[in-house]
Amino acid sequence: MELDEAINGRTSVRYFREEPVPGETLLELIRAAVRAPTASGLENWRFIVFERPELAEKLYELIAEGMMEYYRAVNLPVDKMEKLRARMYEDGMYRAPVYVAVFLDRNVRFLKGREYDELELLWSVESAAMAIQNLMLKAVELGLGTVYIGVTNFRGIDDEVRKLAGLKESYYLVGVIPIGYPRADPTPRKRRKSAEDVTEFL
Ligand SMILES: Cc1cc2nc3c(=O)[nH]c(=O)nc-3n(C[C@H](O)[C@H](O)[C@H](O)COP(=O)(O)O)c2cc1C
Repeated sequence: MELDEAINGRTSVRYFREEPVPGETLLELIRAAVRAPTASGLENWRFIVFERPELAEKLYELIAEGMMEYYRAVNLPVDKMEKLRARMYEDGMYRAPVYVAVFLDRNVRFLKGREYDELELLWSVESAAMAIQNLMLKAVELGLGTVYIGVTNFRGIDDEVRKLAGLKESYYLVGVIPIGYPRADPTPRKRRKSAEDVTEFL
């Protein structure tokens, strides 16, 4: 597949078929992920694949909890919240055969000194986010759908995800990616802003 086709064909997919994703396919995605740039060459990312049904179910519950907190945080009217809750629990929104949680180890660092804590974290998160983008583009090529889940970073939920992953406290959750074969053909969302709108040539 041409790069352009993958970039323009990617869109967030939130409904998946039950069909499992083979382990080798997941490794192909992660092989693409780890080719991303990584600040100071740190590679302090960790990809935890949740495929055992009982673990995937627990992670799904945490995603649903995070989404409800998100709806509250954006002051969504109660009736709309209830519709979205039904989309999750009845229609299976976000229910995927497998989830990849992406973490970084804050103990693995390059800059010395507390004054660089924030910058080091930012660089590591940025690196992991680039890895996630690679994974998502590779997924398009392999006919898989993905969506970046950030709501599992609400305070308290991130800790639950980390514990479920069996990782110690130095691990910081960057995002959770549900992965599966899309229920319907993904139609990329239109952008409100064009490249020209957001670019300045100086
Ligand atoms: C950092 C980040 C966090 C996100 N978190 C969520 C999330 O928690 N739940 C969700 O449904 N989508 C989430 N998204 C997906 C965005 O809503 C989506 O990318 C955006 O609406 C544009 O749509 P597109 O991906 O189809 O182009 C997240 C995206 C990013 C980059």
